[in-house]
Amino acid sequence: MSRALVPGSFDPIHNGHLDVIARVATQFDEVIVTVVVNPNKSGLFTVDERVEMLAQATTHLQGVRVATWQGLLVQFASESGATAIVKGLRNAADFDYEVQMAQMNRRLTGVDTVFLGTDPVHSSLSSSLIKEIARLGGDVTTMVPAAVHDRLLARLAEHA
Ligand code: PNS
Repeated sequence: MSRALVPGSFDPIHNGHLDVIARVATQFDEVIVTVVVNPNKSGLFTVDERVEMLAQATTHLQGVRVATWQGLLVQFASESGATAIVKGLRNAADFDYEVQMAQMNRRLTGVDTVFLGTDPVHSSLSSSLIKEIARLGGDVTTMVPAAVHDRLLARLAEHA
């Protein structure tokens, strides 16, 4: 059984994430979308809310489950039996950042990272930009799943 991790903050999941997860799900028997908890960073959504939105958005994808992890990602890869970490690459800046982490992760435990080039339709997406645009009243309906869109607007309204 082949198993891969797709890690991230997912605060919140957007359509670029979803595209990568869907494509990876065709390549591995099991994909564990891993919400990595950073205790020093408070998000717009709680970790439980992110997990809920991810689970909802990936319910149609076979072999995909959602988990949380705090600590070294390679440790979770070992514990869960995942043989690969999968990342989407939007641009050269992503590459520079991600390749260093990939090399370090391989150095730590030998786990390899597989990169998928983002579909150009989604390459301008980031959770931070989407939150900023929505906060400023811009339209993000084409950038996130519909359920996430509703929760995003509701959460921002609470903070307004
Ligand atoms: O969505 P993000 O914020 O770009 O995700 C980055 C993330 C969480 C995947 C990355 O920071 C990570 O893997 N953190 C886990 C901690 C870890 O293993 N750090 C050493 C990396 S070499």
